[in-house]
Amino acid sequence: MEHPGFTVWLTGLSGAGKSTIAQALGKELRSRGMKVEVLDGDVIRQNLSKGLGFSKEDRDTNVLRVGWVAEILSRNGVAVVCALISPYRETRQKVRERIPNFVEVFVNAPLEEVIRRDPKGLYKKALAGEIQNFTGISDPYEPPENPEVVCNTAEEEVEESVQKVVSYLESRGWLLPKQDKSEE
Ligand code: ADX
Repeated sequence: MEHPGFTVWLTGLSGAGKSTIAQALGKELRSRGMKVEVLDGDVIRQNLSKGLGFSKEDRDTNVLRVGWVAEILSRNGVAVVCALISPYRETRQKVRERIPNFVEVFVNAPLEEVIRRDPKGLYKKALAGEIQNFTGISDPYEPPENPEVVCNTAEEEVEESVQKVVSYLESRGWLLPKQDKSEE
């Protein structure tokens, strides 16, 4: 039987660890023989969503576009991993309703922690008022109410977060258990 496609949707603040988990998860899924596409907000905004800003309207357009791509890919047996802040609950819900086998993962880190990490120096600028509408500082983030998986990145290693998602996918029968090399 061909693998069913699915979409793992990572949502959370900038700097929470979405891209890191997405890359590690993508690698793990490939090692399980799946066709994988990682759709990362920072990359998407350089091509598919080039020119979009960070108003609610533009963020919704971005999220719905990525949702559409995820939908057609997962419909064709691809394992899709999306990493977008996707701050609005209602917009994430719209995406969920369109995609079969949708897994919402809340990549959770306290605001103080992401401000401390500040890998791109953007929180510093946002706090100084140099960037407007910055998520968590001067723009809303609505955490998921019923995510399939929660990764607390201030408390767990990347591998642990990846394992949580993998376990969920296995429990749904969307991912075959890893082959023990000694049995091949
Ligand atoms: S989303 O809100 O539309 O889902 P997306 O994940 O694509 O956001 O892009 C977020 C990335 O854009 C952040 O990680 C950060 O690097 C950058 N960025 C630039 N300006 C902002 C802003 N005002 N709010 C949030 N992120 C911003």
